[in-house]
Amino acid sequence: MRRLGILLSGRGSNFSAIAGAIDEKRLDAEIAVVISNRPEAPGIAAARNRGLNAVVLPSRGLDREIYDRLLIDELRKHGAELVCLAGYMRILSGHFIREFSMRILNIHPSLLPAFPGLDAQHQAIEHGVKFSGCTVHFVDEGLDSGPIVTQAVVPVLDTDTADTLSARILKEEHRIYSEAIGLVVSGRYRIEGRRVIAESP
Ligand code: GAR
Repeated sequence: MRRLGILLSGRGSNFSAIAGAIDEKRLDAEIAVVISNRPEAPGIAAARNRGLNAVVLPSRGLDREIYDRLLIDELRKHGAELVCLAGYMRILSGHFIREFSMRILNIHPSLLPAFPGLDAQHQAIEHGVKFSGCTVHFVDEGLDSGPIVTQAVVPVLDTDTADTLSARILKEEHRIYSEAIGLVVSGRYRIEGRRVIAESP
């Protein structure tokens, strides 16, 4: 299961970190296609610059299930086996999630199950937590609720704004997403209930 389908909506720094890890042979995988639902996403330009298959599928105004069927067709066309959400700011339909059951990963900028949904870093600051971080998890039909593959912790400083906290978390995102993809691609894990347990080589 080495062929990745990356979905993004914006900047694409997580995508670039994954592509960098593959280039540097820290991650044994291949990017089959990068798809953006927003034509203006800088991440799609970055994918093109790397010479990857980069596809824009505008989602605006389309019914969720109809759009997701187009998405599935495009992923299948390129032989994507594992779907990696990398700042993909659109909720997936149940149909899509069932089609790629336990083969969709997401990265979220909080220590789930705290602060799911939008503006997780702002939510963390407002709540007054002293530590936050990021989570890579399998996507199920709930909101940021699937089994957790890995997490990283960062401190929240009294002086933090959502921007400074986001930058500290993003550095960890770039590190752990490739590691988590590597584990899933290797198949060296098992799932017990909600627990994702890495198996030793
Ligand atoms: C990242 O911080 C990612 O965790 C977050 O969007 C940002 C995308 O940045 N995702 C979510 O909030 C998903 N709910 P990027 O486009 O530079 O990778």
